[in-house]
Amino acid sequence: MKIRIALDGPGGSGKSTMGKRLAKQYGFTYVDTGAMYRATALYFDRNDIVPESIDDDQCARVMDDIHVSFAWADDDQRVFLNGSDVSAAIRTSRNSLLTSRVAKLPVVRRALVAQQQAMARQQSVVMDGRDIASVVIPDAELKIYLEASPGVRAQRRMEELEAKGESLPFEKVLQEIHQRDHEDMNREHSPLVKVAEAIEVDTSSMDADMVFRTLCDYVDALL
Ligand code: C5P
Repeated sequence: MKIRIALDGPGGSGKSTMGKRLAKQYGFTYVDTGAMYRATALYFDRNDIVPESIDDDQCARVMDDIHVSFAWADDDQRVFLNGSDVSAAIRTSRNSLLTSRVAKLPVVRRALVAQQQAMARQQSVVMDGRDIASVVIPDAELKIYLEASPGVRAQRRMEELEAKGESLPFEKVLQEIHQRDHEDMNREHSPLVKVAEAIEVDTSSMDADMVFRTLCDYVDALL
């Protein structure tokens, strides 16, 4: 039986932590669609491409040159851009903000959504992102919308950045969270939305194990 889990929500709501744990628990493939947009943005940055100043044809050619892939190592998923490991480079705060600008481009979205849909056709997946239930897999067996207050999300993001050696003041991280929320929720194409049938889980006052157990209950109900 093929099961497709759509895990949507804003940055810092715990999607990737939960996505990886669920995938491991049930033997499903984890697809971090945010990493695909982040790696695409890194390519733009490294090639001095400004997302606001390219047209659709140029953008389509750029997308032909970008290949993002994943591999597991030491219990974590590594992200590769055209064969080189960019796992750390895509998570800097500079690249996070650029990603929201690149993710607005319809040609970028079309190319990445097609790849994501192909992955979801082949196997059971846990796919995390912003538009998974609304656009990528509207007929997913389980649709979860993870939420958390901006303050809690900023705290989590700060700890994540610190663990990677980038330390930023809380206020700056919070401001970035607000800015990314604004861009992701108000863009013209595929904005972040909670679809009506999604189950909303507010993780603000839950620890990771509690969230995980809650999500496992929903998956178990499908099996
Ligand atoms: O999930 P993550 O924070 O890594 O996503 C980075 C950015 O990629 C988001 O802020 C959003 O702009 C974009 N994104 C998107 N659609 C997705 C996943 C991510 O637009 N499905």
